[in-house]
Formats: sequence, structure tokens, C-alpha cells
Amino acid sequence: MTNPATVDYFSDSKVSQDPYEYWDHLRSQGPVTREPYQNVIAVTGYQEAQEAFKDTESFSAVNAIGGPFPPLPFEPVGDDITELIEAHRHEFPIFEHMVTMDPPDHQKARSLLLRLLTPRRLQENEEFVWNLADRQIDEFIKRGACEFLGDYGKPFATLAIADLLGVPDEDRDEVRRNLGAGNAPGSRVGALDHEPVGSNPLQYLDDLFAGYIEARRSEPRDDVLGGLASATYPDGSVPPVIEVVHPATFLFAAGQETVTKLLSSALLTLCERPDLQDELRADRKLIIPFIEEALRMESPTKVDFRLARKSTTLGDVDIKAGTVIMLCLGAANRDPRKFENPNEFRLDRKNVREHIAFGRGIHTCAGAPLARVEGRVTINRLLDRMTNIRLNETIHGPAGNRNFSYEPTFLLRGLTELHIEFDEKN
Ligand code: HEM
Repeated sequence: MTNPATVDYFSDSKVSQDPYEYWDHLRSQGPVTREPYQNVIAVTGYQEAQEAFKDTESFSAVNAIGGPFPPLPFEPVGDDITELIEAHRHEFPIFEHMVTMDPPDHQKARSLLLRLLTPRRLQENEEFVWNLADRQIDEFIKRGACEFLGDYGKPFATLAIADLLGVPDEDRDEVRRNLGAGNAPGSRVGALDHEPVGSNPLQYLDDLFAGYIEARRSEPRDDVLGGLASATYPDGSVPPVIEVVHPATFLFAAGQETVTKLLSSALLTLCERPDLQDELRADRKLIIPFIEEALRMESPTKVDFRLARKSTTLGDVDIKAGTVIMLCLGAANRDPRKFENPNEFRLDRKNVREHIAFGRGIHTCAGAPLARVEGRVTINRLLDRMTNIRLNETIHGPAGNRNFSYEPTFLLRGLTELHIEFDEKN
């Protein structure tokens, strides 16, 4: 890598391919340190990232996705900019989605979502996900090879959420076509002047879901969308249609790319470690820690942002109100003060569940249970139906000289393609 001291995390294409050495460099300066190019405070320490996630008094989530882009729509003045944030909230990217909300509005939005993600719904969805995994595998198993993201990961993740939300069967193909690919606009490395992150990536889904909810409000039906249409806030009031639609549509944005990235990194590990294929096949319980370790090692959400709304201290560093904080989840999950030999993939890591790949605090990933199910089911069915799962070396090169390409974004960590070969199991 080029000298990490002179690297701009947000635009360096090499760092987007491998951020770990750069993060080690930042951590060597301290777990909380200034990133010079976008004037962002980078948090690479596990403990400090946890603290920032939990301190909603000092840190606002208003810039959770965009970070320093676009620049703040106001000049921060004083040691408490809460009022300025509220006055300009509507100018931040995806301000209408819960991930950027602060209390008390965040709690209201999340309460609607929790009406949907009931234990019963998750259980029914898990049954669907087992069948879905087989349907996807059926599409390519006879070929003995596939490009895993396009043939499995993307359609699988999209259809799993479509089912969770109760999208009617007849509309699912269209949803799959419209959402099967695509990245968060604006988060690409070298694209700093692009349209702000996700300025309106979900309009199609908003319209689709508004139609479902309106139809069910005029003619109630006893289905998942009907449950969503009749959901009320904790105080009993009925939310406007769009406030019901947003939590639902945001699930697609939050849960497709991330899950695809988790599944492909887990499978890449299995390809490189045939010993793990044997071990997991022999003892399926080990798939659970395997998925957690995959989340820790290659955290699909690389970084997450906060805006200091009050002047405060994090680690030993004074932070002025108005400062953008970059919580480097992928780095915190490899903090050697927390995880012994952090760059090693270990199935027997005792504290693996403490990783923060799903964030922490009030915004902790609402889809984590589904993501975990998708990971567990996928690995189980791949091991059931295939043996000798291996990389396509014509495309990825021989052992010791592999080539992989990762999405060139500062936000997410994931392969662009994963070509595998395997033998079908009889
Ligand atoms: C491996 C897969 C996933 C990863 C790594 C991941 C990661 C994250 C992270 C780090 C956050 C916290 C953001 C913040 O604090 O600013 C988050 C929030 C969220 N995630 Fe996930 N996610 C994954 C899958 C999913 C899935 C499958 C869904 C939906 C079905 C989902 C829905 C959400 C929602 C709704 C939020 C916002 C929660 C809130 O603001 O209260 N995620 N996710």
C-alpha cells in the first residue's frame, strides 16, 4: 500500500480494496484520531466506538450514512448545535429514514418496525428462507459453478425481505428485477461530488408500499401489510401513510447489499479453508460462530457516522460540537485490545458475539436476526448440497496470487464478484 499517512480514506482506491493496514495506521495514532482530508474524527478503538454509539446526548445520527458528504448545511456555532441540527434536518440525506433520526422521533419510527418484526413473523420468514435458499441453488447447481453474488446472494437477500414485508407473490419478480443490483449512490470512492448518498434511492419502493398501505386502509386485510397498515404509535395515534411506508422500504436499503456482502465473504472463507467446510459439515452448530466471525473479520458496514451535537470528549480527544465522527466498525472489530490476534479467522473465539458489525445502542441493526438466519441457512444448504466448494482459479488466480475486486465505496466492504466451482452432492 502507499504510505498510509498520506492516504485520503474517502477517495483512495487502494484503501477501498483493503482498508485494514490504513486502519492499523490510524489506530497507531490513538483509538480516536483526526483524519486529515475531510476533517473527520476517526474512531478505530472498540471501546470508544461503543461509547459513541451509546451517547445519543452528545452524538446525533443525522449524518449516519453521508458522513462529511454533503458538507453541513449550516455553520456550527457554540458548544451545543442541537437546535441548528433540528432546523436543518430536512437538508440531510435520507433524513426521513430512522437510521438518521434521534430521540424521540427515532423511537416512534422504530416502534412501527417492531410491530412488523414480531417473533411470529420472523419464524414464518425463516421457513420461507429455507425454501428460498434451495430455489436459488436449484438455478445453478447442475452447472457445477456460479457467480455467487448474482446467482445467489442478491436475489436471495431481496426476496427474503420481500417475504418478510409480505410483498404479494405476483409482485416479487418485479421487485427482484428492480432491486436485484445497485449500490448506494454517492458512497463510491472518488465520487465525492456525486449526488448525496441515497437522495432518493427508495422512491420506487415508497410508491409501491404506499399503494399497498392505502389499499389496506380502505379495505383491511389480514396479512402482513394489513398489520402494518393498522399499526399505531405507542400513544394510539394513527401514523400518516408515508410514516408507515418509510420503515418498511428502508429494510430493503439496509438489508440487501449488507447481507450479500456477508454471504460472499463467508463463502470466500470456506473456499480458502476446506478444513472449515469439513468441520462445519460435521458439526452444524459451529455455523453460528462461523457467521459471527465472518461479520467480525469483514464487517459489511465499514464505517458509520455521527455528528457531535455537543462539545464533548471521546477517548482522550476533545471534540467540538459540529465535528463529524467516523465510527470504523471494521477497525473496531479488529482492535487488538478487544480481540486477540484480530486478523486471524478463529472459529473458537470466545468473545466473537461482542463484535459491533451491527452497531450498538438505539440504532442497533433491526435486521440482525434476519441477517443471521440468512447466513446460517445459506451455509447449511451449501454444505448440504455441495462438496469441494472452491474458487474458480481461472478468474481469481491460483493460491498465493489471488485477485479479488471489492466494491469501491468508503461505506461498505464486499466483493464485486465471487466465482466458485463445486461438486454436486448426491
Ligand atoms: C450483515 C448484514 C447487516 C449488517 C452488517 C447491518 C449493519 C447495520 C448497522 C451497522 C446499523 C447501524 C447504523 C447506525 O447506527 O447508524 C444498521 C441499522 C439498521 N439495519 Fe442493518 N445490517 C445488516 C442487515 C440488515 C437487514 C437484513 C435488515 C432488514 C431486514 C436491516 C435493517 C436495518 C435497519 C432498519 C437499521 C436502522 C435501525 C435504526 O436506526 O434504529 N439490516 N444495520
